[in-house]
Amino acid sequence: MTRTIAFANQKGGVAKTTSTVSVAVALAEIGRKVLVVDMDPQGALSYSLGIDPDNLDITVNDVLVRRAPIADVVITREVDVVPANIDLAGTEAILLAKTGREYALQRALREIDGRYDYVLIDCPPSLGILTINSLTAAQEVVVPLQCEALSHRGVGQLVETMGDIRHFTNPDLRITGVIATMFDGRTKHAQEVLADVGHRYGIDVFEPPVRKTIKFAEAAQAGRSILSFAPTHPAADAYRVIARRIDQMEAPS
Ligand SMILES: Nc1ncnc2c1ncn2[C@@H]1O[C@H](COP(=O)(O)OP(=O)(O)O)[C@@H](O)[C@H]1O
Ligand SMILES: [Mg+2]
Repeated sequence: MTRTIAFANQKGGVAKTTSTVSVAVALAEIGRKVLVVDMDPQGALSYSLGIDPDNLDITVNDVLVRRAPIADVVITREVDVVPANIDLAGTEAILLAKTGREYALQRALREIDGRYDYVLIDCPPSLGILTINSLTAAQEVVVPLQCEALSHRGVGQLVETMGDIRHFTNPDLRITGVIATMFDGRTKHAQEVLADVGHRYGIDVFEPPVRKTIKFAEAAQAGRSILSFAPTHPAADAYRVIARRIDQMEAPS
């Protein structure tokens, strides 16, 4: 059975894309078949796996509006990728005018059901129709959260949106956990923020936190995951540990 996991947080710059790529490649390292889906018109996930978003004939956009089968847009890098580019910004308006607009991604993923162990979806930094499609297609949500003051402010809103999703389109959606990102171990404050989030929302925070390092930006620039770019870096290992933990968790039925 395929586990479909959305990486969501409506705040930008919290390492959604970085965490999607890193967990995906870490799962591939332990032999899982993994597909990542770029649902952000910025195309950062595509770019950071070495795909030029501006040079694509077909993307996730064509899949969502039923112009192309999803298998036709898959590009293989360190893992298989359904890429996106700025065309996806226009999809939002097209979907809004359609019946079943929340289900466009779910429908597309059904075409390849069983082909992958994991489908990881990189959400855009909003709670709009593209994120709603992602949360409707997924069984699970992972929330990347920056370890800094007030970074948890948006979590309540995300939890509320997930409540709506459960009510309207996807009753079994569950939160798998928080990935603590950009951790600066020198500040005690970061640890307090994390403990508070876990406690307040009843969400597990994965161990270990992913520390802050320039290697992530360098890896993305090189079109590679940190796991292949800096394989022995502690931040690469952190994602390996988190991925293994996710893999050991019981898949939702
Ligand atoms: N642990 C980290 N330490 C330092 N920089 C990071 C870390 N994780 C991600 N980044 C960088 O932060 C920026 C935002 O990350 P990104 O994954 O694009 O966030 P999002 O998808 O939530 O907008 C990128 O430049 C990325 O390389
Ligand atoms: Mg992103």
